[in-house]
Amino acid sequence: MFGDQKVSFSGVQPSGNLTIGNYLGALRNFSTYSEEYKTFYCVVDEHAITVRQIPAELRRRTYETLALYMACGLDPEKNTLYVQSMVHEHAELSWILNCFTMFGELSRMTQFKDKSAKHADNINAGLFTYPVLMASDILLYQTDVVPVGIDQKQHVELCRDIAMRFNQVYPDTFTIPEPIVAKQGRKIMSLAEPTKKMSKSDENPNAVVYILDDRDTIIRKFKRAVTDSESEIRYDEAAKPGVSNLLSIYSCFTGKTIEEAEKEFAGKGYGDFKAAVGEVTADALAPVQAEFARRLADKAGLEAQMKKGAEEASYYARRTLSKVQKKLGFVQLH
Ligand code: TYM
Repeated sequence: MFGDQKVSFSGVQPSGNLTIGNYLGALRNFSTYSEEYKTFYCVVDEHAITVRQIPAELRRRTYETLALYMACGLDPEKNTLYVQSMVHEHAELSWILNCFTMFGELSRMTQFKDKSAKHADNINAGLFTYPVLMASDILLYQTDVVPVGIDQKQHVELCRDIAMRFNQVYPDTFTIPEPIVAKQGRKIMSLAEPTKKMSKSDENPNAVVYILDDRDTIIRKFKRAVTDSESEIRYDEAAKPGVSNLLSIYSCFTGKTIEEAEKEFAGKGYGDFKAAVGEVTADALAPVQAEFARRLADKAGLEAQMKKGAEEASYYARRTLSKVQKKLGFVQLH
């Protein structure tokens, strides 16, 4: 809370081309809060460097992610849209919170375990303390709600624990945030291995539908999606993960319930079903893609937004950081 206004905060890494998982699990839900909350949506480039990035690509994706925020309905007049590395308080608070986070807590994070298995040659300390930087992102803005996909829930829960621990020693410092995980779209699975999360870093391009894929590519990828050897279109995550994932995607993009979708496809074959999922996905993404292209073409406009967003965010970040520094006993000169 800032004053009497509730706050929503979330972030997306500019570490790869964004997927329909990012869109359905996070991005498209951000604007829910634009009217009634003070909203901060950040392109988290500092998080991205926990794995090696090619500088020119990181830079390009930072512009793209900002353009995509706007294309997903985030009006820069109503939302603070900015780039993490342009607000130095994130990294500063992160150091402080490191001193309030336990080694054991960080060791238990499933993302750390997964990423350190995947990048065994680069298990750097940043990969380990990543959730602390995430906690500082959230806590700097006295955040009430954090809309995320299910894979980030554990990190937001750790953030709550860190905030409560800090508040216990220094009362009334941080608002305790709540993760908000969408019911539908919380975990979109890979099209090639439907028991695995769809991930922007997947090496198999057929496993992932990107937000910016063209219509034919989207339809082709869905046609190749792995299903099962039965023929019934029924939601059952354990027995039929591929079909269930496609039903979820269909339901997210059409607004129909899973039951309605099952009825609609009763008696139909997998071929027709997959084609239909491809069509509704391509239809839903077309306006996002058009607006993205328009925004991305205006580089000066994006840079002006980066500047404005960073100034807006810094105002709030500074207030929280100086409150924290004062509580800790750091000398403050006026
Ligand atoms: P990132 O960049 O991996 O993903 C951005 C958002 O997309 C969601 N998501 C998914 N949702 C459903 N199905 C999927 N297959 C899928 N893949 C990704 C993620 O849950 C996330 O909400 N650490 C965060 C970024 C971050 C952040 C923050 C988020 C940094 N600071 C503070 C919230 C608050 C991350 O790596 O997200």
